[in-house]
Formats: sequence, structure tokens, C-alpha cells
Amino acid sequence: MNNQENFYITTAIDYANGSPHLGHAYEKVLTDVIARHRRLTGRNVHFLTGLDEHGQKVQQGAEKENIQPQARCDLVAAEFLTLCRDLNISNSDYIRTTQTRHKEYVCKLLQKLFNDDLIYKSEYTGYYSKRAEQFLQEKDQIEGEWPEIYGEVEEITEESYFFRLAQYQEWLIEFLEAHDSFIFPRFRKNQVLEFLKEPLNDLCISRPIERLSWGIPLPFDQKFVTYVWFDALLNYISAVADQDKWPADYHVIGKDILVPPHAVYWPIILKACNKELPKHLLVHGFWNISGKKMSKSAGTVVNPLDLVQKFGTDSFRYFVMREMRVGQDSDFSQDQFFIRYTSELANDLGNLVSRFLNMTSRYADQIIPASTVKEEAEVELIQNWQKLENEVFQQFEDFQIQEGLDQIFEFIRSLNRYIETRAPWKLAKSEETADKYRLQTCLASIAEGLRLCALLLNPVMPKISSEITKSIGAPDNQNWIQDAHWGSSLEGSNVGEKMILFPRLEL
Ligand code: ME8
Ligand code: MG
Repeated sequence: MNNQENFYITTAIDYANGSPHLGHAYEKVLTDVIARHRRLTGRNVHFLTGLDEHGQKVQQGAEKENIQPQARCDLVAAEFLTLCRDLNISNSDYIRTTQTRHKEYVCKLLQKLFNDDLIYKSEYTGYYSKRAEQFLQEKDQIEGEWPEIYGEVEEITEESYFFRLAQYQEWLIEFLEAHDSFIFPRFRKNQVLEFLKEPLNDLCISRPIERLSWGIPLPFDQKFVTYVWFDALLNYISAVADQDKWPADYHVIGKDILVPPHAVYWPIILKACNKELPKHLLVHGFWNISGKKMSKSAGTVVNPLDLVQKFGTDSFRYFVMREMRVGQDSDFSQDQFFIRYTSELANDLGNLVSRFLNMTSRYADQIIPASTVKEEAEVELIQNWQKLENEVFQQFEDFQIQEGLDQIFEFIRSLNRYIETRAPWKLAKSEETADKYRLQTCLASIAEGLRLCALLLNPVMPKISSEITKSIGAPDNQNWIQDAHWGSSLEGSNVGEKMILFPRLEL
């Protein structure tokens, strides 16, 4: 089918200088949820994630461990790939910046910019932070001191190559002012415009090879390697160089790498190369621990895989999507995870499914009966569904995933209330024919409700969704636009054996 709309989405590529943490896991899950939602609506999705392997810290880390930088990157890559697998991330590709396809693309592009005189050689004197791998300016000081995050800062002079960033400043401001939806959430645009009030400097894009050997050598001067952003940002396009996919629809990134890399350097690099800009940047917030940054030294780094092991993949995905409003910061707490797990997943959803399976096996020989009655209870239930059906779709389109999940669970609770109202255990004891039909309709209605919940929960909880779908005998290749409407009939389907979707846990 080539009349399908294409949708290309990326995550930031993770630094290969450490193990995956909660922030990495969140970003991948968020992007995966969007990718799965778009697929469910029939779009042809290309989903890229990957690893950012060059740079001083990787080189230093390898020296410390007495192994080759590439060997160290391979170990880290294995960890991140395990994370993707354990989080059930449906990426189409995984780019590593040490791959030939990437290095060749970076060289080609650098050479072109050099030929066009958009890269030039000059001398640079400045304060340099090894830890941040960047030159600093006096204005980066706070009360005459370099902030802790920069570590040791020294003054150095060296020859460097520069990219003519400054000459694009006016263009970028005009572009941003004219494109309100370029950055999501919109309030972040002001942060970029604020940054652009100061004159831009040209961007130093090289490091001398004796100081940094772990990088891509400049094609026009092998005594230098490219500096981190000119290498890393290009992954988004090097990965699809021969695939007719550019421009990306969304780059999903955290707020710390919006300004300047993604909102200033990247658009200008693309403009200088005559390439289209990505359509949007989707900027998420940060996970904190008790209001503070996760920190290795304070021992507050959350390992997502511990949580996955304890609560399960889909519960983890659910929790991070339900807890954080896309774009805002959020505090992580294991207690809060436990509460949501127990009350929303185990009680509301898990119970609904197990009650349904129990009742269908008891009262209907595990076969979904026909729906023949439409009384007040059914009318109300269907209305509850219809109220949310369009809204939840739009919420997922607009990244209001937290709100969308909230509404889906509101509907799950209304299914539970419907069971209470109908009280099938009473209907089953009745001798009246009308009650027999009410009982059958009740089971059929719950089955239909579960089918819809499973469909809408699919992007966030793909495995749970398909277990529910299977257990009610519904088709598993449903489409959110065509099939997310009340009124399909599962009459005659065999329901599965009893199952426990969310086992009880102790905190
Ligand atoms: O920045 N909460 O890599 P990275 C939420 N290699 N998100 C977080 C987070 C937190 N506590 N901490 C980090 C890099 N992130 C570069 C990117 S892209 C061309 C190059 C997010 O491993 C962070 O904002 O430090 C970024 O989007 C991603 O995790 C990778 O961060
Ligand atoms: Mg970082």
C-alpha cells in the first residue's frame, strides 16, 4: 500500500558513557507509544533510535578500563539494546554513530559545507570544560565561579574549524516566529527566542586529534575530529540517507538538549545544507527523585530494568505514561508506582478481565453470547464510551497521553460499575426469560467494552492488550480509526482460560 501516510519519528541517541537510566527508558517508551498509536491509525511509521558513541568521556572511560573505545561502546550498546527489548520498543532501526553509514554521511556533509565556505579554520582561545566537552564563556560563571557541572575549567588556545552559525541567526528567529507548532509544547519556543536575543557565535566543530582521538576525522583535515553535536545530530538523517524518509515528523528529546543543539544548531546545519527541517521537536521533561536530579553520587539513579523485573514491562510503560504529563517534569516514586499498579492495573483492569472470564465460563460455557437487550444500564455504558471515543483519539494525537489513559480507565471503572448494576450472579439464578437475555447481553457488553479498551491501550500496553484481545476471541489486527466504535459483535467467540494479568505484589 503506497497511499499510506509516512511518519518518521526519532529519539535522541543516548550517550555511550553510562548505563541506561529512567530518563532513557521514558523517552523510548514515549516515542514507542506515539509510533504504535500512529501505526494503529494506519500510518507507515519509521522509528529510529540509537547510540551516540564518540566523545571524550567515552574515550576516557575506555582508557580507565583499559579497553578500546569501540569495545566499550559495544558493551554499552548491548545494554541499551537489552533495554529496548525489555521495554518492548518497536523501533525500525538502531543507529550507532560508529557505523560506516553514519561516518560516511558526516564526512560527505562536512566536505560540502567546507567547499561552500560555510566551515573555516581559525584560532580560538577560551575556557574549556573537559567534563562538558565545551568551551565556556565568562557568562557561564555564577558569582565568579564555574558551576560544579563543568568540573575543572582551563584556558586554552588552539586552531579549530568553525561553522558559520551566526549568519543564520535572523533567519532562525523568523522561522521560529512563523512556525508556532515547530516545538511542542509551545511554551518552549520562548526559551529558544530568549537564547537568540544574544548574538550567536560561529560554532566550533572540531577537536585536535591529540586531545580527542575518538571521533570522526574531518575529511579535509585529518589532524582534527568533529565535535560532538556535528556528529550526533546528523544521525537522524544519515540513518535514512538512501530511504526517502527525510524530513522527520518528530524528534523526541529531553528539555536539556533543546537549546542550543536541537533548536539552534540543527535547524541551521540543515538550512546551510539546503535540506528540509524536521517538522516538529517534541520536548519532554525530566524525571526527578524527591524534587532533585537523579544522581550517581547520591545513589538516586533509577534503573528501569529493576522496575520492569518487579512490575512487568507493560506496567512500567503504563506507569511512566500515566504519571508524567508530556512536556512537564515529574517526580519518580516507587510508592506511587505501587499504588497505581495495585489500584488501577490490578484492581480496575485486572479484576475486570478475570471477572469477565469467570462469568463467561460459569454462565455461558466460555462462549460469548448475543447482545439482545438495550436497557438503561446498556444505554449508559454505551454513552460513556461514546463520550470519550473521539476525545481519547485526539489526546493521543496531541501527546496528552496521561489524560487519554485517565479517560480509558474511567471507562474501565464504568464497566465494573455496569457489572455491579447488572449483577449477573443474580440474573443467573432467575427463572425469567428476560433475565436470561439480560445476562447474555451483560457478558456480550463487557466483551465489547474489553475489546475497545484493549484497542486503545495497545500503544501503551501492547502485550496486555493482545492478551485481552486473544482471551475474548477478538481479531488482533484492529485499526484505531475503523474499529474503535461500539457495536461489533463477538457473539460465538470462544473465550480463553482464566488468567491473572497483574499478580498481587508486596511493596
Ligand atoms: O543528551 N529524565 O544523550 P543522553 C528524562 N547523546 N529524560 C532524560 C533524563 C531524565 N532524568 N536524563 C536524560 C544526549 N534524559 C546526547 C543526545 S541527540 C542527537 C544526542 C534524556 O544519554 C535526554 O534529555 O545524555 C536525552 O533526550 C536522552 O535522555 C539521552 O540523553
Ligand atoms: Mg545527558
